[in-house]
Amino acid sequence: MPLIAVAYVKGRPGATTTALGLAALAPAHARPVVVEADPSGGDLIRRLGLAATPSVVDLAAAARGTTPAEDALAAGTQEAVIGQVGVPVVVAPAGGAQTRAALPELTGAGRAVLTTRERLLVADCGRLAPGPAAWPLLRLADVVLVMARARTDDLAHLREALADLVDVGAGRLVVLLAAGGLYPAAEVADVLTRHVVKELARDPNAIDVLGPLPTDRKAAAVLGGDLLAARRWRRLPLMRAYTGLLDTLAPHLPITASTPTDFREETPR
Ligand SMILES: Nc1ncnc2c1ncn2[C@@H]1O[C@H](COP(=O)(O)OP(=O)(O)O)[C@@H](O)[C@H]1O
Ligand SMILES: [Mg+2]
Repeated sequence: MPLIAVAYVKGRPGATTTALGLAALAPAHARPVVVEADPSGGDLIRRLGLAATPSVVDLAAAARGTTPAEDALAAGTQEAVIGQVGVPVVVAPAGGAQTRAALPELTGAGRAVLTTRERLLVADCGRLAPGPAAWPLLRLADVVLVMARARTDDLAHLREALADLVDVGAGRLVVLLAAGGLYPAAEVADVLTRHVVKELARDPNAIDVLGPLPTDRKAAAVLGGDLLAARRWRRLPLMRAYTGLLDTLAPHLPITASTPTDFREETPR
C-alpha cells in the first residue's frame, strides 16, 4: 500500500510541486502515479498542458466497480513529461467540485484503487480544511507528508491542526519543512514534539520533521511547466532533496513487484 499523501494547513508551501517532484524522481520500479486529490481543484492540466480527460472523475468511476486497481488507474491516468521522464498523472479539473465528489469514491469502504501495493501513489491533497474532504485519504496513506514553512505564523496554524493530524497519522506523520522558512528542522521538531506530549498527551514519536526543502526557482519552474528541463535536471537542489526524501521514506513504502503483463497474457483462460 505505498501511498504518500501530501497536504498542508496554511499558505502555499509547494505541495503540488512536491507531489509531482517525488513521482518524477521515484525509481522506475516504483511505477509512480501522481493523483490530484486537492478538494479545491487541480493545477496540473493548466501547468503541464495536459488534457481535461481522463481525470480523477474517470478514476473514481472505474474504482466503483470490481475493476482491478491497476486497470482503474489506467482509466484515469495520462502522462506528463518532466525531463525525459514520463510521469503518470491523474489530473483534477479546476474548481474542486468534481474532486470533492470523487474523493469518497476513491476512499470508501472496499475501495482498493489508492492502496495497490504494486505502485507508488503520490496524492496531492492540497490544503486541509475542516470537514471530510481529504481526511479519509490521509487515513489510508503510508506517509502523511504535511508541508509547512518554518515560520511562526505557519507553525502556529500547524500546531492547531496537530491533534487531528496525529489522530489520523500517528507514526506515519511527517512534517516536511518547505522552502523559505526561518528555523531548522531540529528546532521545529522540538517545539512540535513538546506540544504533542504536553498538550495532546500523545507519543513523542507520533511525528517526524524533515527538510527544509531548498528554495530552487529553476526546479520549481520545471515542475510547474514554465521551464524545459535541461539534461542534468535531476541535479538541481530541489530535485536532489526529493531524491533524498524518497530514500528516507523508502522503509515506509514497500513496493510489491507487480505481475508482469506478459505473464497475465500467457495465463490460459
Ligand atoms: N522549493 C521551491 N523553491 C522555489 N519555489 C517553489 C518551490 N516549491 C514551490 N515553489 C513555487 O511556489 C509556488 C506554489 O507552489 P505549489 O506547488 O503550487 O504550492 P501549493 O500546492 O502548496 O499551493 C509555485 O509558483 C511554485 O513554482
Ligand atoms: Mg497545490
